[in-house]
Amino acid sequence: MTISLKDQRIAVIGGSSGVGLAVAELAAAAGANVTIAGRDQKKLHDAAAKIGKSVRAEVADAANAEAMRNIFSLVGPLDHLVLTLSGAKGAGPFRDLNLDELRQGFEAKFWPHVISAQAALPSLRKDGSITFISAISARMANPGTAGLAAINGAIEALVRPLAMELKPLRVNAVSPGVIDTAWWNRVPETQRTALFEQSAARTPAGRIGQSEDVAKAVLFLIEDTFMTGAVIECDGGLRLT
Ligand SMILES: NC(=O)c1ccc[n+]([C@@H]2O[C@H](COP(=O)([O-])OP(=O)(O)OC[C@H]3O[C@@H](n4cnc5c(N)ncnc54)[C@H](OP(=O)(O)O)[C@@H]3O)[C@@H](O)[C@H]2O)c1
Repeated sequence: MTISLKDQRIAVIGGSSGVGLAVAELAAAAGANVTIAGRDQKKLHDAAAKIGKSVRAEVADAANAEAMRNIFSLVGPLDHLVLTLSGAKGAGPFRDLNLDELRQGFEAKFWPHVISAQAALPSLRKDGSITFISAISARMANPGTAGLAAINGAIEALVRPLAMELKPLRVNAVSPGVIDTAWWNRVPETQRTALFEQSAARTPAGRIGQSEDVAKAVLFLIEDTFMTGAVIECDGGLRLT
């Protein structure tokens, strides 16, 4: 059975950019009442203008549990929570991996996901949903990604026990491959272009992903009320290589 997104109240933490913005745009276009949250006010403002429908934007740092509890009580009742926020640290060959950076990687992604999910529970409809975004590194054997695999594997490990513990709330995740978003802006442009080309050539689907590819997988998990405890790979088949 699928539900219509019309009038569903959806919060997207990390909704001011990339995958989160695409989720917010598609959900708003389908008639949902969307709240987006992120740390940077200007990014949020620009994202809200792009979404162009009645969207609420809240400045919030998901690493701060008290701030997240305040945001959720301010926003009020929710049907669905989508967590698309991101860090970027923790990559690199294990022999030389900077362990402080790996710790920061957990602080910037794993903990804010956990904090937001817990803080949202009092506001979430009993049979609503939570969708986490992990990363396909957690399901590959790619040298140089053990740290990222650990952070995202930890998020994926939450899904099945939470789906049982919190039922009838549905808990799922989408595990993306390489997606063309601002996340990659930290890599110099020429290097980034080369990396995208290499990745597209390696990927069975013959291209890298766009935010909308992942957003559609997220909306599927929200809409299909038979989906819970699942991690969907949305990677163009990259994990098979
Ligand atoms: N892009 C890829 O190739 C790729 C691959 C695999 C997995 N992923 C995962 O997909 C998800 C979406 O990534 P993306 O590519 O869309 O990244 P993005 O374009 O950089 O967007 C990240 C969003 O999260 C927000 N954010 C970051 N830290 C936050 C915090 N502490 N509190 C609140 N908001 C926070 C950012 O806004 P502010 O900075 O203003 O807070 C921004 O809106 C992430 O979990 C990422 O790890 C991405």
